[in-house]
Order: sequence, then structure tokens, then C-alpha cells
Amino acid sequence: MLNRDIFGRLFQIELFGESHSEEIGVIIKGVPKNIKLDFDFIQYELDRRRPGQNDLMSTRDEPDKFNFTNGVKDKTTTGENIRIAIPNINTHSQDYLQFEDIYRPSHVDYPARLRYGSKINLKGGGRFSGRLTAPIVAAGAIAKMILKQYGVNIAGFTSQIGSIKDENHYSIMQIQKKVESSIVRGMNSDLDKRMINLIEDLIKQKDSVGGVVTIQIKNYPPGIGDPWFHSLESDLAAAILSIPSTRGIEFGTGFKAANMLGSEHNDLYILKNGIISTKTNHCGGIIGGISIGTPITFNVPIKPTASIGKTQKTLNFKTKKLTNLKIIGRHDPCIVPRVLIAIEAITAIVLVDHLLISKNQYK
Ligand SMILES: Cc1cc2nc3c(=O)[nH]c(=O)nc-3n(C[C@H](O)[C@H](O)[C@H](O)COP(=O)(O)O)c2cc1C
Repeated sequence: MLNRDIFGRLFQIELFGESHSEEIGVIIKGVPKNIKLDFDFIQYELDRRRPGQNDLMSTRDEPDKFNFTNGVKDKTTTGENIRIAIPNINTHSQDYLQFEDIYRPSHVDYPARLRYGSKINLKGGGRFSGRLTAPIVAAGAIAKMILKQYGVNIAGFTSQIGSIKDENHYSIMQIQKKVESSIVRGMNSDLDKRMINLIEDLIKQKDSVGGVVTIQIKNYPPGIGDPWFHSLESDLAAAILSIPSTRGIEFGTGFKAANMLGSEHNDLYILKNGIISTKTNHCGGIIGGISIGTPITFNVPIKPTASIGKTQKTLNFKTKKLTNLKIIGRHDPCIVPRVLIAIEAITAIVLVDHLLISKNQYK
């Protein structure tokens, strides 16, 4: 049996369960012992990701309460594998009967059957569901607690919804202060209003929209990472692209680097308050797969939600005829503000994995 839903080398996560099974969860290996866990923080993170937070989100009402069933005693890690389970309470499997013969465009219904056969259970998205990001967020909360011991801070915001873009630069402190007061998790109140209006408009039109998530990481120690297939960049990219609906990643100046000259793009070394730094940060904090101590920054584009209520003409796989599909169910018109939390979490998991590997001198 191939290990399928496992990620990480030292701090390793393995997902279990499906969208409509009794529970979903995560087994975490490699968590150091004697780490005091802040249960309120884990719940806070899960609440930031859960549906039904406001009128712009899916009305699926999942409380996302977690249980540690292994590896934690008196709210402290024991050094054994940690197991976190989250019950599925609010499932509406009947909403998915309509996709037995008419596969949702841009969703997993067709490719999942190609890979695993027609008997695969895809109620609620099955194993592919965005719901599996809940246990990732729980594991990410533990990773964030470990990173905090090293003074590392992660923050993200919605920098684009549709064509409405926020191109300003914000410090981590500014992001942390403002982002949770915005229901789209944006940083600029005027742009927030325009983003909200757009999403409200699309709800009326039974359509959906995508956007971009911007992540910043401060105080990640320099000298962490590896070359080649487990470079810090490639592990972050692999982990982030595993989150359903992400379409890419660009570090630092990203794709714009293609239009720059070397003399413009090179980050010149300087001494800042006695510490080696760089004048600019086009590289986004990583060179040669290894952190250099400047903020790690990247953007992640998110596609528009595939499940839309608007009528779509698509193939009925049984009759082989074109037919009208009108998707019912409780789908987010824009998943960007929720995917952001999953991206923060998986980022924390990769950063801890690399930190523990480098600090433990695995060369
Ligand atoms: C937190 C979260 C919630 C999601 N909710 C929905 C949803 O309500 N409807 C939908 O069509 N897709 C939703 N998605 C996206 C699909 O899971 C995803 O598009 C699908 O699995 C296909 O994968 P891909 O887009 O990465 O290729 C969600 C993703 C995440 C991370």
C-alpha cells in the first residue's frame, strides 16, 4: 500500500477520514515531547476555517470540535504520535446524488472515478474534500505553537478577489491587527467593501469567484532548508498545492522576475542593526532552497469555487448527452478567506519540519 495522504519528513502529518465519514483527523509524528498545548488556540484556528462564519460563506454548520485520542496528556505532548479526531456532524449526503451521472465541471467527480473506479464515495467530495483542511489546521496550530518558541510569526491576507487587487505592502503586525476584522480577510477597508459587494452580487447570480492569498513569515531563522527535492521552496510549493483549489505559488517578486534585469532583481547584502540582511527581498526569503533570514513571502492564486448554482450545459456520463446541471448544496461563492487559513497551517507544518530537521543536524 502506498502512503498517500502523508506529508513531511520529521514532523509528519497523515490525514484520515472523508467528508461524510463519522470523523476526520490527523496523525502527527515527530512532535517533540513536553510541549504545552494551548487548546483555545487550536479551537480559535479551527473556527477561523470553519464554514458558516458569515453570510458570504457556506451555511454548512460544523462545530469542528477536536479530540486528542493519542500523544497528549494534561495538555502536554508525550513524544508519542499525536492523533486528533474531528467528528463530522452536519452532512447532507442527498445533495450529492445529482452528481452520480453528471460530473461537476472543474471538480473531482470525473478524475476521482478515472483513478479509483466508479464505486468511490464522493459524497461531500469524499477524501478529496476541502473539509480535510480542518485536521490540517489543527496540526498547523501545533506547528505554529512550536514556531512561536523560535519567535517565528506567520500571517496571511486576501490580496485579491476577482479583479479587485490590493497591491500595498503590509507588515506582519499590521496584518495580525486588521485581518480578522474583515469578513473577506482583506487589509484595506475600501477594497474590502468592493470585494464584499462583488461576492454578494455573485451570490445573486449563483456564480463564484477566486482570488489571491498573500503570506508573510517573519523571524524564520537563516540557514534552514536543503537543496533539490526537499528545498524549503519545493516543500512549501508541494504542500500548498496539495490544498484543494490552489493554482500556483510565487515567491517574493515571483513571475515579475522574468521581466527584470539582474541588476534590478539582485538582493544586495547589507548590515541592518548589526545583522546581515538584504536591501530588497525579491527572492522572498529563500535562495538555493535555504532561508536567508529575510521575511519569507509568497502569493497563492485560488480558483473560483467549482460548484455553482448557475445552469451549466455539460455531459451526462450515463446518457452521453449534453444536459443542464444546476448544482444544489451549501457551497462558498468565494473560498479564498477560508483557504487562507489552510495555507497558513500547511506553511507552519513545512516550516517546523525543516526547522526540526536542520536544528537536529540531519545533513
Ligand atoms: C476549505 C475549502 C473549502 C472548499 N469548499 C468548496 C465548495 O464548497 N465547493 C466546491 O466546489 N469546491 C470547494 N473547495 C475546492 C474543491 O475542494 C477543489 O476545487 C476540488 O477538490 C478540486 O481540486 P483542485 O481545485 O485543487 O483541482 C474547497 C476547498 C477548500 C480548501
